[in-house]
Order: sequence, then structure tokens, then C-alpha cells
Amino acid sequence: MKNFTVKVNGRQRHVKVEPDTPLLYVLRNDLDLKGPRFGCGLGQCGACTVIIDGKAIRSCITPLSTVGSKKVTTLEGLGSTQRPHRIQQAFIDAQAAQCGYCINGMIMTAKAFLDQNPRPSEDAVRHALAGNLCRCGTHPRIVDAVMRAARES
Ligand code: FES
Ligand code: FES
Repeated sequence: MKNFTVKVNGRQRHVKVEPDTPLLYVLRNDLDLKGPRFGCGLGQCGACTVIIDGKAIRSCITPLSTVGSKKVTTLEGLGSTQRPHRIQQAFIDAQAAQCGYCINGMIMTAKAFLDQNPRPSEDAVRHALAGNLCRCGTHPRIVDAVMRAARES
């Protein structure tokens, strides 16, 4: 076990874990941030996505020891129930969730993407989200939600 300081959602957080502990486990188990989900645990589904220094990253395959002083943003860092981020609001307005399990990854991937591409084509959105799996098959509404968020920015 080793002591680490990690910057999450603008706060310095201190944890004592094994260096190879996946960031996802630290976020959920040590910091009680349940936005990122455990799906495959293999970097294949996107449910665990967080943003690290502006990039969408799969936290299930990111050892904490590799995070260092980078800024980690989780779903909780975007908005709240009372004040949702415009992307979160767009997902609500488009009723994009069915079971909701993939939605953390969809929103965090969309956030990193829209920050770089504020006026994307629908094809570009589809391409950006292609690696995020949704077993409920609600992709058309998810793409609609991201396009709404882009229009409303
Ligand atoms: S849980 Fe991380 S990619 Fe599936
Ligand atoms: S809404 Fe169920 S997995 Fe996407």
C-alpha cells in the first residue's frame, strides 16, 4: 500500500492503495464517486469513462500510479441534479437512457469530444461514440442528445 494524492473534480483527494489499483476502483470504492461504472473491466465498453486532462479515458484500465498530478473529472464534476450540465440536460430532454448503465461513458465521452468539436456533424458524433457500448440499443437517442447539446452550446 502507498499514499497517493489525486486531483478529482477540483479537489485534492488522498488515498492509500496498491499502485496498480485501477482508477475506477479508487473513484468508486475510496472516494464514493459512483458515476463511473464497472462494465467489462477490460477497456472495451466505455462505462467507466472519466476525463483526464481533457481526454476521455477508461478508468478500469488506468492504474492510479499513472495518474500523477493530472486533473480527473468524473460525471459528478460536470453538474448536479439541481444544476445539470447542458449535456446531462440534453440526455434528459432526449430521454436517451433506458437502463442507464452506459450513460456515464456516453456523457463523459461526449463532453471531451464536444470540448474539441463544438459544432460536430452527426456522423462525427457517431464516430466519437462508436467505442461506447449500449446493450439497450438506445444509440439513436444518445446521438440525438449529443446533437442537442451541441446546438444549445
Ligand atoms: S468498464 Fe472500463 S471499458 Fe468497460
Ligand atoms: S441505456 Fe442500457 S446500456 Fe445503454
